[in-house]
Amino acid sequence: AEMRAFIEALPKTELHLHIEGTLEPELLFALAQRNKVDLPYASVEALRAAYAFTDLQSFLDLYYAGANVLRTEQDFYDMTMAYIDHARADKVRHAEIFFDPQTHTERGIGIDVVFAGIARALREARDQHGFSSAMIMSFLRHLSEEDAFATLDAALPLRDLYKDLWNGIGLDSSERGNPPEKFARVFARCKELGFHLVAHAGEEGPPEYVLSALDVLKVERIDHGVRSEENPALMQRLIKEQMPLTVCPLSNLKLCVVDDMAEHNIARMLRAGLAVTVNSDDPAYFGGYMNANYLAIASSLALTREELLQLARNGINASFLPATDKARLM
Ligand code: ADE
Ligand code: ZN
Repeated sequence: AEMRAFIEALPKTELHLHIEGTLEPELLFALAQRNKVDLPYASVEALRAAYAFTDLQSFLDLYYAGANVLRTEQDFYDMTMAYIDHARADKVRHAEIFFDPQTHTERGIGIDVVFAGIARALREARDQHGFSSAMIMSFLRHLSEEDAFATLDAALPLRDLYKDLWNGIGLDSSERGNPPEKFARVFARCKELGFHLVAHAGEEGPPEYVLSALDVLKVERIDHGVRSEENPALMQRLIKEQMPLTVCPLSNLKLCVVDDMAEHNIARMLRAGLAVTVNSDDPAYFGGYMNANYLAIASSLALTREELLQLARNGINASFLPATDKARLM
């Protein structure tokens, strides 16, 4: 009970959050009704019951299907505002949010609609509550490099309109068989353009993908990275470079990356000196927002208050905020 109060009071940052993964079944049903989209589930309960995953792909199939109810600027706004309410309730002070335009442009939704709805909610939360945020546009790695370039070309005319928010580029979706090298050229272009770079690596994929995310894509953070532990030389490098890993404990449990939270390596990695952070990934699908993720590891791995505080500090340090803002959050 005391640990719960400590976690609830801890100011947090969230650096690994897919906005499409915050679409709760209730809102998903409401948007389906509003947009007259047929769903293959009879009820909210039936949909939630389908959230029993065996691996990353079994989740992604439902996640992309769920995103089909998102049609209008208002839909993206409503989804983002619902996330902000959860985040603020969990004392998240700053969030760097992934969004996947290709999931929507493939269905004929304009990329301008996606940007506009998410940004309107983030700006409103900033103005009304001081909620700080950034947007990280992510490429779907199961699609081609050409498709990623086309998405970048479609988004760049919007850069000036969203310069207060959009500062990063990410890489997500099906990891195995889609190594970082596939996106070497588009990431090089994004680096030239001055974006911050991150990529999912070492979630289901091997430690070699973490290495190529660092050496080929030149990322500044690794999203997940939990399989790095299989390569001791890589671990030494991650420690030496203080390369942040955005770890997502409940996600790893639900997607069977770990069998049991008591076996999660976040505590070992923290104690070995890695810059690990705690994040919620796709909270509507994985059963918990930020506090739930902290609570799950605190109880299963016997983390001390000092360690929980270190995790929160790592999150502030690993953010793309300017140093003055980091200092204010510490
Ligand atoms: N898209 C949304 N969540 C993801 C995850 N955990 N890994 C890869 N792609 C994702
Ligand atoms: Zn993710």
